[in-house]
Amino acid sequence: CGFKFIVSSCHQTDILNILKENPNQVSSSSNFLFGTSSSCYQYEGAILSYGKGLNNWDVFTHEAGHIKDGSNGDVAVDHYNRYLEDVKLMEDMGVNGYRFSISWARILPKGTFGDVNMAGIKHYSKLIDALLQKGIQPLVTLTHYDIPQELEERYGGWLSSRIQDDFSYYADICFKYFGDRVKYWTTMNEPNLMAVCGYREGTYPPARCSGVFGNCSAGDSEREPFIAAHNMILSHAAAAGIYRTRYQKRQGGVIGISLDTQWYEPFSNSSEDIAATERARSFYVNWFLDPIILGRYPKEMVEILGSNLPNFSKNDLSKLSYGLDFIGINYYTAKYIKDCLYSACEHGNTWSEGSYFVTTEKDGVYIGQPTEVEWLFLYPQGMKKIVMYMKDRFNNTPMVITENGIAENDNLNPSITDTLNDIHRVNYMHSYLNSLANAITDGADVRGYFVWSLLDNFEWLDGYKLRFGLHYVNYTNLQRTPKLSATRYKQLIYNFNIQL
Ligand code: NOJ
Repeated sequence: CGFKFIVSSCHQTDILNILKENPNQVSSSSNFLFGTSSSCYQYEGAILSYGKGLNNWDVFTHEAGHIKDGSNGDVAVDHYNRYLEDVKLMEDMGVNGYRFSISWARILPKGTFGDVNMAGIKHYSKLIDALLQKGIQPLVTLTHYDIPQELEERYGGWLSSRIQDDFSYYADICFKYFGDRVKYWTTMNEPNLMAVCGYREGTYPPARCSGVFGNCSAGDSEREPFIAAHNMILSHAAAAGIYRTRYQKRQGGVIGISLDTQWYEPFSNSSEDIAATERARSFYVNWFLDPIILGRYPKEMVEILGSNLPNFSKNDLSKLSYGLDFIGINYYTAKYIKDCLYSACEHGNTWSEGSYFVTTEKDGVYIGQPTEVEWLFLYPQGMKKIVMYMKDRFNNTPMVITENGIAENDNLNPSITDTLNDIHRVNYMHSYLNSLANAITDGADVRGYFVWSLLDNFEWLDGYKLRFGLHYVNYTNLQRTPKLSATRYKQLIYNFNIQL
């Protein structure tokens, strides 16, 4: 079997065979998936059309003050209606993969057991068929930050264990209707960021926080992120269990989860900063991957959080044993980590729970070259570092880079010509791909790379001002135009392959 299973050896799938079935791939020599990424809320639009229910982002963006440019995803880039045109753009780039997410509220408008919205099923079915016809493998995410609003209102969304049943029911429907053609699944996109932004800092829905963490009307920043995360982890486990026991053998696909990863570099060589860096990894990525792959929370979290960290029951542990087939890594940038357990940390971005301080600057110098995105500093070497870290910690579980990208910032008033002539993105991809190729040469089991993003789109709190696309979108008429990077992607793939 070309694919290692961490927990159970009985669910055998050969990912290489899946890849070989795909005839029209630019990277056929290496069986590597190359593609672009998207998500339903950021792309689809059609907010209440074709039977879709409201989700938490639909509601959140319509409340004043959350989104910097006051925009929302009501229309977004109209991918719902223009998906054929968008598949053609992918075909022109010669990619063999497309990562997109299904809108939970489009499949189950009320989020729970009950009527399935067949218009939603039909839509994704047509998208999947259109991709496969062009030799493009779909990699499907079940939730990319969005959950049906009804679940938020009925029981507090991720804060309630009831969501585990609803999520697995929804996942089951997706496997049933699409699993004959979709061979790559991820349950969730960046649950670690969802937990932090939604329940610690209150910047994403449901905007809960307390104390010094943010300015919310309700919440408990010291406990709720861990409760929400616990339910996310167990929801992943429940969905993975359904896939493995009812579908995987017959359908022959694989299932994973995508995490927001940043490379954490110790602020200094002191043993305190090195230990703090490991704590930071535990409090962010290992928070999710340790339970799912190793069956327990990281020891640093258990020691520090005590009773604020929920426990796994016996029944939970047996669900967790379904694990995952691959780790999805979203990697863009890096940060320094400084200890605050043994020495006081100044003000700023301090994770009091983990007693560490996060910064992008040391002695007046940034960790990498700044870009037009406030949080994004160039740190291509971190791609190799994060992949090698995962390789060592998780026994070389197969990995897919589910996101990597850079944006132009419309707030800086660039000319359209400059935005289209995005040589900086070509250089960015080139350097990050080099770093990835190095990791693979050193033995890391990486199976794919997806650029964020196919098109410029709705960039959450930044609205439409940050343009992450390989294609420029004119927001007046929604016309798409390839940027230089879209036409160079083929060459980048070629360069990558010859390095291996
Ligand atoms: C992570 C998220 O998954 C995606 O939705 C977002 O647009 C990109 N990173 C860029 O910030």
